[in-house]
Amino acid sequence: MLRVLCIFLVIVLCSAKELRSLNAQLNPNCPPVVCMNNDESTITVVHISAVGEHDTLHYLWDFTGKPSVLIALTSPITNLTINWENFILNDPENSVIFSTKPIYTSTVVMNRLWQFNDAEDTGTFSYGVNSSEINVYDTRYITWTRNEFRKSVHEVEVTVKGDNLSFFGDGRISLNFKCFASVDHGIDFPHLLHSENSTQFDLVFDGLQVNSSFKNPRFAAEFIFVSEESRFNNQSFMLHSKKSLDDEHTPGIFEIVEIASPKSLMANKGSFIQYRPVSYTHPERDVSTSTELHITMPTNLDNPTIQLNTSLAWLYYGPLLNTILVQGFNVSFGMSGDGFYTKTNYSTWTFIMGYGTPPNEQLSMFVVIVASIGLGIPLILLVGGGCYICIKRTRNR
Ligand SMILES: *[C@@H]1O[C@H](CO)[C@@H](O)[C@H](O)[C@H]1NC(C)=O
Ligand SMILES: *[C@@H]1O[C@H](CO)[C@@H](O)[C@H](O)[C@H]1NC(C)=O
Ligand SMILES: *[C@@H]1O[C@H](CO)[C@@H](O)[C@H](O)[C@H]1NC(C)=O
Ligand SMILES: *[C@@H]1O[C@H](CO)[C@@H](O)[C@H](O)[C@H]1NC(C)=O
Ligand SMILES: *[C@@H]1O[C@H](CO)[C@@H](O)[C@H](O)[C@H]1NC(C)=O
Ligand SMILES: *[C@@H]1O[C@H](CO)[C@@H](O)[C@H](O)[C@H]1NC(C)=O
Ligand SMILES: *[C@@H]1O[C@H](CO)[C@@H](O)[C@H](O)[C@H]1NC(C)=O
Ligand SMILES: *[C@@H]1O[C@H](CO)[C@@H](O)[C@H](O)[C@H]1NC(C)=O
Ligand SMILES: *[C@@H]1O[C@H](CO)[C@@H](O)[C@H](O)[C@H]1NC(C)=O
Repeated sequence: MLRVLCIFLVIVLCSAKELRSLNAQLNPNCPPVVCMNNDESTITVVHISAVGEHDTLHYLWDFTGKPSVLIALTSPITNLTINWENFILNDPENSVIFSTKPIYTSTVVMNRLWQFNDAEDTGTFSYGVNSSEINVYDTRYITWTRNEFRKSVHEVEVTVKGDNLSFFGDGRISLNFKCFASVDHGIDFPHLLHSENSTQFDLVFDGLQVNSSFKNPRFAAEFIFVSEESRFNNQSFMLHSKKSLDDEHTPGIFEIVEIASPKSLMANKGSFIQYRPVSYTHPERDVSTSTELHITMPTNLDNPTIQLNTSLAWLYYGPLLNTILVQGFNVSFGMSGDGFYTKTNYSTWTFIMGYGTPPNEQLSMFVVIVASIGLGIPLILLVGGGCYICIKRTRNR
């Protein structure tokens, strides 16, 4: 009986269906004059085409400027070409060309990082922070060096390390991007659920130097989210949080936060960011090393073209950034009483960004079986016991 159950479980667990087939290239067709003359590992542009039955999703991950992810939904046979001369010169004219016009695109850019003095120990960046106690780091001045690039038809992954001695001392920012062919949970904490239409973005602030004049130092990051839909009626990204039924995959965290574009909410044809509000304070991610993170409402930017200069968003959209939906938000790491950044000198954030609707956590087979056993055995005993008593009484009579 147990063996049958185990085999059944294994079949259920292993049946993650491949919904798209991934084809990835690192620095596609980069001419030697661009990619060889420079230190090659500081130029990292990854193009992935995720080919589905009816369409293709293209992902472009760029670390030559501000770290960015572009998602484009196109017809199945569409090629992407990078014009490297323009790309490197930050010229939006014909830098990234699709052979047929994409049906929809969206982009996320890590724009700026902040260090601040959390005088009132709230963990949030929006309240009680003295504006003269904020240091800013523009991500365009960080050098992103590639550590690892791995690809298969199931999964593509790149890891880069960002440093700038005058910002971070010997510390570094580590970024890991992943993209998947099927629906599943991530291998590492917080084990986020990803769909076949998403990229996972993992950010680590590792051993960054802190400003000695800040008693309670914390870090925060500003992200900019671009969705190629019109800014009709001042529409904006919607931020909302929901409770999940179980915390099996991310112990202790029952909340899921989503930032969705209007089209994602109304027609499933926009894009979203989804995460669990947890940050880990140690490379060994676990309940005991977790703290909170806080986000601010998405707001419009002044001069998006200037702010997004030296990012893939500028290279792809150019002046169009003034008319499509572009908003930013800040995420701060930590919570009241956790001892601030210097307690461990380590903070993380993991989110997925994707096309369509955010994936919904289903009750896993494990939980269903445990729940059935937990509820089923008492129920059987109750019914069995009831019958026994009934039968006994009737007989006695
Ligand atoms: C896309 O690229 C392939 C191989 O390089 C080529 O055969 C095909 O014609 C291209 N398709 C379009 C629409 O440009
Ligand atoms: C903000 O910090 C500055 C310098 O540290 C200080 O002079 C000022 O009084 C502070 N403002 C508030 C509202 O605490
Ligand atoms: C520390 O913060 C203060 C106040 O914001 C700033 O004036 C100073 O330049 C910072 N020091 C370093 C090393 O960044
Ligand atoms: C570090 O950042 C500063 C801007 O604050 C910039 O001038 C400098 O070139 C950067 N260093 C490197 C190595 O990129
Ligand atoms: C959009 O916002 C601007 C400035 O906030 C305001 O002047 C305008 O009336 C708004 N338009 C609509 C349709 O709400
Ligand atoms: C982007 O930045 C560069 C260098 O700071 C500047 O020369 C250029 O004009 C900027 N472009 C835009 C659109 O702001
Ligand atoms: C992030 O916080 C900084 C500092 O308070 C602020 O200047 C900036 O406008 C914020 N960004 C967004 C997109 O809200
Ligand atoms: C974190 O870094 C600060 C200096 O930047 C240091 O004083 C502190 O001891 C470090 N904390 C740990 C746990 O190593
Ligand atoms: C993935 O994208 C396709 C469009 O190509 C869409 O039909 C599908 O519903 C999306 N999947 C999810 C989980 O949103």
